Amino acid sequence: MRSLRDKLILITGGARGIGLAMARRLGRDGGRIVLADLETEELDRARESLQQDQVECSVFTLDVTDIEALPDFRQRLHDQLGPVEVLVNNAGVVFGGPFLDLPLDKHLLTYQVNVSGVVAMTYYFLPDLIAAEEGHLVNIGSASGLVPLPWGSTYASSKWAVLGFTESIRQEMAELGHKHVGVTTVCPGYVDTGMFDGVRPPLLMPFLKPEQLVEKVRTAILKRQEMVLEPYLVKLTPLLKGILPRFLSDGLADLMGVTTGMKSWSGHAEEPGD
Ligand SMILES: NC(=O)c1ccc[n+]([C@@H]2O[C@H](COP(=O)([O-])OP(=O)(O)OC[C@H]3O[C@@H](n4cnc5c(N)ncnc54)[C@H](O)[C@@H]3O)[C@@H](O)[C@H]2O)c1
Repeated sequence: MRSLRDKLILITGGARGIGLAMARRLGRDGGRIVLADLETEELDRARESLQQDQVECSVFTLDVTDIEALPDFRQRLHDQLGPVEVLVNNAGVVFGGPFLDLPLDKHLLTYQVNVSGVVAMTYYFLPDLIAAEEGHLVNIGSASGLVPLPWGSTYASSKWAVLGFTESIRQEMAELGHKHVGVTTVCPGYVDTGMFDGVRPPLLMPFLKPEQLVEKVRTAILKRQEMVLEPYLVKLTPLLKGILPRFLSDGLADLMGVTTGMKSWSGHAEEPGD
């Protein structure tokens, strides 16, 4: 995408964290920002905070798991603002803990938000990106979409799904001749938003600042990069996982503290859906 100026940019889960940082950054480039989030009060706070940085945005209360509401939401957006040109599927949840200690509904909610929400939003908004002169889809996965994550098994596997889904859609766009639609999967390590509070980050992989990450995502949109793998060690992960026998990759993950990091997860004081 040559420029973000005047592009209609829809960010799910945009009321705080990475989504809000993305709104601030892409808004500074002149993008027309739309935030969609479950949390109405957080959305109002986000809008005020963006206004202080001279970034105007429209906000919509939306639950991405409410699949039946999505066609109406799309119609409202079209009526009020026009078709979307950049979709950032960012809304996500995590519930840490030993698999059997968490209620099943938390595991299933993780899949509903992180997987079904992403698939359904893409289903309803990809036609806008295809119809646009230039369009871009950004799906926020995670470094845990590349590795196992004990104490976060459904979170990690939801992100494995995001990675497989987004990479497949990317190739599908190219095969169908929609070369004007860029597709990016974002796989960050831990980011300092509160979502992973309490976690001990792996060796040599300190928490990223959301602002650092969104700078890379902005570049990926402008340069049509397929993947954002941050911090640097995450770039090496697919290679190491591919060439090392499992006992060595497991051993390396143990040594770096990837295997045990989630044991001390506390997360946000309150999660959406609580
Ligand atoms: N923080 C990290 O360390 C980290 C690392 C890798 C990937 N990610 C991913 O980045 C994305 C953003 O994470 P964050 O750290 O900013 O988290 P966050 O909790 O700060 O923000 C997530 C936002 O999503 C919204 N949301 C949750 N469920 C929703 C639903 N059903 N419908 C609409 N909105 C909903 C929340 O209200 C919240 O505003 C997530 O997909 C997350 O999995 C985060």
